[in-house]
Amino acid sequence: MKLVFATNNAHKLREVAQVVGEEFELVSLKECGITEDIPENEPTLEANALAKARYIHSRTGLNCFADDTGLEVDALGGEPGVRSARYATDGHDDEANKRLLLERMQGEENRAAQFRTALVLIMDGKEYLFEGVVRGRILCAECGEGGFGYDPLFAPEGEERSFAQMSADEKNAISHRGRAVRKLAEFLNK
Ligand code: IMP
Repeated sequence: MKLVFATNNAHKLREVAQVVGEEFELVSLKECGITEDIPENEPTLEANALAKARYIHSRTGLNCFADDTGLEVDALGGEPGVRSARYATDGHDDEANKRLLLERMQGEENRAAQFRTALVLIMDGKEYLFEGVVRGRILCAECGEGGFGYDPLFAPEGEERSFAQMSADEKNAISHRGRAVRKLAEFLNK
């Protein structure tokens, strides 16, 4: 069965394809002719994922899913949250985002935080929501070279290493996105 995944990131596509299994042919946005940017201006992760999935469904008529992820920091009242990609600037500047996060967390003792992924599937016209969460803490300085985004500043619970110090497989096994996608896979394979 064909299933559109709201991404053009080949890495994400491969990673998710492995989890959902061979019965599902994952199709990227580009492959189904969607080349424009899909707006992500909603106030919550869930609403963004839903808006993206509805957009793709209305354009292609195909079964599809979309995700949105945020880093939610307890001491910052859940910020940057839905604004994680655009925390420091309107562009998508990972370096500036990490600098701003470190600045806001300077001297803060409560370092607790979580990554959260909301994933919406539209299947045979019905909408389903899946969530993946990983709790952890914000480090005082960047650690590690791997991963992307806020990975060098986040250590999951029970770990001394940051996400940026783990292999992709280690991160996927416990990450927010990995958890949301495994819930999706369980549902699809039921
Ligand atoms: P997206 O919804 O996957 O595009 O994620 C939005 C933003 O959250 C990204 O621009 C990153 O800054 C951040 N982010 C999402 N997933 C991760 C992750 O696994 N590690 C670190 N940062 C992430």
